[in-house]
Amino acid sequence: MSAVVYVPRDAAALSVGAEEVARTIAREAQARDVDITLKRNGSRGMCWLEPLVEVVVAGERYAYGPVEAHDIPGLFEADFLSNRPHPLQLGPTERIPYFASQQRLTFARVGVTEPTNLEDYLAHDGYQGLRNALSMSAADIVQDVTDSGLRGRGGAAFPTGIKWKTVLDTPAVQKYVTCNADEGDSGTFSDRMLMEGDPFALIEGMTIAGIAVGATKGFIYLRVEYPHAHRALTEAIEVAYRAGYLGSDILGKGRRFDLEVRLGAGAYICGEETSMLESLEGRRGEVRVRPPLPAVKGLFSQPTIVNNVISLASIPLILAKGAAYYRDYGVGRSRGTLPIQLAGNIKRGGLVERAFGLSLRELLYDYGGGSASGRPLRAVQIGGPLGAYVPASQFDVVIDYETLSGIGALLGHGGIVAFDDTVDMARMARYAMEFCAIESCGKCTPCRIGSTRGVEVIDRILYGVDRDQNVQLLEDLCDTMVEGSLCGLGGMAPFPVRSALRHFRDDFLKPPVR
Ligand SMILES: Cc1cc2nc3c(=O)[nH]c(=O)nc-3n(C[C@H](O)[C@H](O)[C@H](O)COP(=O)(O)O)c2cc1C
Ligand code: SF4
Repeated sequence: MSAVVYVPRDAAALSVGAEEVARTIAREAQARDVDITLKRNGSRGMCWLEPLVEVVVAGERYAYGPVEAHDIPGLFEADFLSNRPHPLQLGPTERIPYFASQQRLTFARVGVTEPTNLEDYLAHDGYQGLRNALSMSAADIVQDVTDSGLRGRGGAAFPTGIKWKTVLDTPAVQKYVTCNADEGDSGTFSDRMLMEGDPFALIEGMTIAGIAVGATKGFIYLRVEYPHAHRALTEAIEVAYRAGYLGSDILGKGRRFDLEVRLGAGAYICGEETSMLESLEGRRGEVRVRPPLPAVKGLFSQPTIVNNVISLASIPLILAKGAAYYRDYGVGRSRGTLPIQLAGNIKRGGLVERAFGLSLRELLYDYGGGSASGRPLRAVQIGGPLGAYVPASQFDVVIDYETLSGIGALLGHGGIVAFDDTVDMARMARYAMEFCAIESCGKCTPCRIGSTRGVEVIDRILYGVDRDQNVQLLEDLCDTMVEGSLCGLGGMAPFPVRSALRHFRDDFLKPPVR
């Protein structure tokens, strides 16, 4: 009987040699006349164990990792295909503590299935949500999404159902569903992993969205630096068309939905929704004044859903299992689960999907294992380059939208970047302002000019020039940017700066840099 071996084709695994590992396994099996079936899955999200090779024994998957090409002969010698002991042996994959304690709803299939294999998707509950949606009224689908409590996972946490209802209630001949897959935040990779590991989930979510609001056309605005996600999505879209899950007569029910991938323009601001729409229309990614909201006047001036990858990929499960099933996870107004991404100076970086309500400490130490350097963790930045720095004294904070906002932080897209005690937080604050200066679209003054002046003011503080006055000036400048910027880039760039000033003021007042 052919032994089944899984080697991920996810970019994180490929970046550490998964392709060579897969090739070597195939070559070694052939040389030894061993019959294997090599399958390429997404990542299980345990990045520090990549490339994570799995073998199926008696229906269960057993993990070995991190595997390098030169380990392969030894693995065959040890008979890893029968799960025999080897120094890289990790036991049953789903019983590895990091994985076993997760609540994988949106990522249920990622790392499990072959990403563009439709039969595999169907065998793992795929397209159940769409089948249900096709027998429901548009208003009922939207109501289910509203009742699930799902809030946008792209950053602003706006209730998805309410956005959909606006699109549904706005009359138009043509409406659109757009997926924001620009994923520009530092330390974030959940969109990429989902698109590479389970592209049908996104396609199904967008199709349901189209049926719910009466949109017949969808676009995925994909970060240009994601070639593997591009390949997976393109393949999966073709397969979905051929099998009747996309096109003019979805599953013979007379409903139309067409879907295309468009590559992004490579600027952080193109992830801001109105800038993304400009870019999709073929113009420079520059922010539009709101109102009107994209839900009323979006792509080509038509009512448009703009949702993040994870928001849309969570929809199939909600329609398959019901709003209550999803809503039962989470706390307060933060319902469901969040795929949290651990990055930076952390021992066990990767993706952890859990219901809202666990503590930051649990994430950093129980999952993350503390810093990679072995030194004490000093701070984390949550929510990308515009997120606040949270000091170690606040690591007991609970992860949900409201609690984080209560300490002046935000969850954003769920990326957490860790820093040990060697970090200079004044330099990090400078970096936040510099990032804003580089990435500003230039449309409004507080951001375009303010961020450049902000870098200069921080430099004066670091150089010891009129420190008290310049710290005050920096605080005033932050207020102006928050109050006066047109979009979240200029409006939130002060968050990391202010948090660094609040929690790590001594770093600004060290002996001057010369
Ligand atoms: C500067 C800036 C960059 C953004 N980048 C992204 C991004 O890369 N991906 C994303 O989904 N949302 C991004 N957003 C948020 C979007 O504007 C928008 O809120 C989101 O796509 C809506 O989808 P959701 O409701 O599903 O979260 C960004 C916002 C700002 C202000
Ligand atoms: S805040 Fe910055 S990025 Fe946003 S519209 Fe103004 S200039 Fe453009």
